[in-house]
Amino acid sequence: MSKPLSTPELESRGNGTAYGRPPPHSDDLLVRVGPHTPCGEYLRRYWHPLALSSDATASPRKVRILGEDLILFRDGKGRPGLLYPRCMHRGTTLYYGHIENRGIRCCYHGWLFDVEGNCLEQPCEPNGGVGRASARQPWYPVEERYGIVFAYLGPKDKMPLLPRYDIFENLKEGESIYVHSAGGTAYGDHKVQAETVPYNCCRHGKTPWTLITCGSFIRPLVVYSLPRASK
Ligand code: FES
Repeated sequence: MSKPLSTPELESRGNGTAYGRPPPHSDDLLVRVGPHTPCGEYLRRYWHPLALSSDATASPRKVRILGEDLILFRDGKGRPGLLYPRCMHRGTTLYYGHIENRGIRCCYHGWLFDVEGNCLEQPCEPNGGVGRASARQPWYPVEERYGIVFAYLGPKDKMPLLPRYDIFENLKEGESIYVHSAGGTAYGDHKVQAETVPYNCCRHGKTPWTLITCGSFIRPLVVYSLPRASK
């Protein structure tokens, strides 16, 4: 049995509260991934899973990736688009943009942008906007595969091919791909907390499902290939 502490020893510990603890800190060199940061530049050489394909719809959605707030949408032709959220004209948010066949129309003066940011119409400008060909809303390339929208935020001349994953190319008989969001950190309005449970099970190898996690520290998406009967 250990000897009880003496009164001077107890007093030397102070009152023991957490008050006065130094503030927590992190290593910005490692954890900052926004534009013009070392890790941000490194990660901007790869494709990243951004959202479920079903998240890209005719209702513009706010998304956040690599420290950037962006607008994800799908135009009337079915093409996903990822644009800088503030209209290049007068800075109105494109979150309230109107989706049309050829792109997204800003709700203020009606400029129409396609999924690559090209300005197609400037209806309030003289002659329909004689300089619209030189106007471009900042945008990022996106591609869809396996039910996921992938985004590339790096320099265009260094853009790699979107990788293919053999695990999803060579499904066994009776398997299909099921993709869902595992944490909901990219959207403020997306809650799928309950679905983290199978994710944790899979990590410990307790289910027959095949699983990969995509961009686990950026956008926690989980992809399973699993027997159809289990869906
Ligand atoms: S602010 Fe978008 S068109 Fe004017």
